[in-house]
Amino acid sequence: MKKLQVVGLGGSLSEQSTSLAALSIALEGAAEAGADVTLFDVKVLDLPMYVPGSTAADAPAAARRLADAVGDADGLLWSSPMYHGTLSGAFKNALDWLQLLSDREPAYLTDKVIGLISTAGGTQGLQAVNTMEYVVRALRGWAVPLVVPVAQSWQTFGEDGRVLDSKGEPIPGLYAAGEVAGFGGGGYHGYNALEGTFLGGCIFSGRNAGRAAARQ
Ligand SMILES: Cc1cc2nc3c(=O)[nH]c(=O)nc-3n(C[C@H](O)[C@H](O)[C@H](O)COP(=O)(O)O)c2cc1C
Repeated sequence: MKKLQVVGLGGSLSEQSTSLAALSIALEGAAEAGADVTLFDVKVLDLPMYVPGSTAADAPAAARRLADAVGDADGLLWSSPMYHGTLSGAFKNALDWLQLLSDREPAYLTDKVIGLISTAGGTQGLQAVNTMEYVVRALRGWAVPLVVPVAQSWQTFGEDGRVLDSKGEPIPGLYAAGEVAGFGGGGYHGYNALEGTFLGGCIFSGRNAGRAAARQ
């Protein structure tokens, strides 16, 4: 029997991205369930801003690869950080490149199922997920009813910077430092981290994560 193709798109331009980490975990779940999975990291894609009227002939190779994989997929997983109450610009720009699917038959994401994930520094990660749902509908897809907003994403990390699973157990080999480890009101280091004052926290969490990785 043909395996289901699941394509993940997400992450941020951060050195270590929580939305990418969450997406990787979700894709692992899809692979464990028997799907063939492909991950598109927004940072690696490094897409220029979408220019209206772009066609497959003049689009950058990365945009073509993304559109082809998405067009061929049975299901998708999207994961964006929450920026200023909504999607990040880099993630939305990647979605804009799916305009290359406009002349496919059927067009865009017709009848594909899309799972939605968002990570947020604060408590309203759902806003980014809700915004993604508008995009899903505009592109003629179906959003999975169960969504995964990871609120206060800095709390998903242990004191040594290790990323914790849902049971609070560290995920082997995965560390976080800098903004991903503490932003918007404080990180695991316990300091308040208002914008412009969190450099200390970045250095602290980076040193911690580095030391913990070296101990392993
Ligand atoms: C420009 C910017 C805007 C942000 N705006 C919000 C926000 O409105 N609400 C919130 O909860 N977190 C906000 N955050 C925090 C991010 O959502 C949080 O750090 C997220 O985990 C980052 O994802 P990443 O690790 O994949 O980059 C913002 C971060 C940045 C850099």
